Amino acid sequence: MNYIKMIIFSGSASLVIAKKVAKHKNQPLGEIEVKKFPDSEIYVRIISCVKDKNCVVIQSCKTNEDIIELLIILDALNDLGAKHITTVIPYIAYARQDKRFKSGEAMSAKTILKLINNSSDRIINVNCHFLNEQGTFNVAEHFNATSEFYKKNMKSDDFSKISDGNFDKISRFFEKKSYYFDDIGFNEKLKVKGSKDTELFIENLDAFTAVAKYFENELDNKNLVVIAPDKGALNNAKRAAGVIGCEFDYLDKTRISGNKVIIKPPKNLDIRNKDVLILDDMISTGGTIAESAKILKSCGAKTITVGCVHGVFSEGIKMFEGVVDGLVCSNTLETGVSKVDVSGIIADRI
Ligand code: R5P
Repeated sequence: MNYIKMIIFSGSASLVIAKKVAKHKNQPLGEIEVKKFPDSEIYVRIISCVKDKNCVVIQSCKTNEDIIELLIILDALNDLGAKHITTVIPYIAYARQDKRFKSGEAMSAKTILKLINNSSDRIINVNCHFLNEQGTFNVAEHFNATSEFYKKNMKSDDFSKISDGNFDKISRFFEKKSYYFDDIGFNEKLKVKGSKDTELFIENLDAFTAVAKYFENELDNKNLVVIAPDKGALNNAKRAAGVIGCEFDYLDKTRISGNKVIIKPPKNLDIRNKDVLILDDMISTGGTIAESAKILKSCGAKTITVGCVHGVFSEGIKMFEGVVDGLVCSNTLETGVSKVDVSGIIADRI
């Protein structure tokens, strides 16, 4: 007889991966009913008995509805007496909104995570966009530190055109110019339930290496160069190049708006007749990849293959046809090109 250590529930956004995780763990999938009312409100019913049980909920949050569904499931599990709740969010939306670039902006990543944290004992994420490393992080500190930095260095509304992504780059930007804080109005003491006031831990798993290993088997590394589409993606690209055994480089990206970026190659980039593998943590609109591919082709790349962990593909994947020679992502989000399975990585952690 199989000893039941945990009940794994799947939200409707992660049915495939949850089934695989349950299989890895040799544990049952919890019975749950999720449906929508005609006005699009979400109905949830937990059918399995969860009283005094360890529960795991797996739900990628790509849309607002995915987030609401997750919150409803978690609250119901608490109401029904679950003993311990691990929330696994293979992909979490809003992770790129972890800072205030302009005065008054919401740090939406914090908002979402606080809500999830209120009903979870443990939160697990895969390649969380604002965390560069894997491990367990008190992201309350991340949010506070980020805000403290701005408080000291930032003049409101000076940030509309900063290069994409990473905090290091922003720090360097500020080192060059001495801004000061005046009217942003921070109040950064995180308020989350009970004793967790200033604690909000995320366990960040790495699927980038699995993506790299996929390409190690699929591509010939002799003529290959891994390219990061911006400096924020460089560390991951470097790691992947180490796995594959090839060179790496990066492009310079400046984000103009949600779907418009300007990409420039570094001066010494020599990719003539090279096979290029562009690797990023996520593809959202696809603007970054489309623009990078265009630039790399104009620099003489022979072939262009693209890989990422999270394939959000808000504009669909058809836009890549004829633009790149190959496109692969992991199954943190189920897509037509989710060829890298991360269920084993999640199963090992829970
Ligand atoms: C940015 O920092 C990320 O790593 C991705 O490069 C970015 O989110 C991709 O967005 P999009 O596909 O909309 O250009």
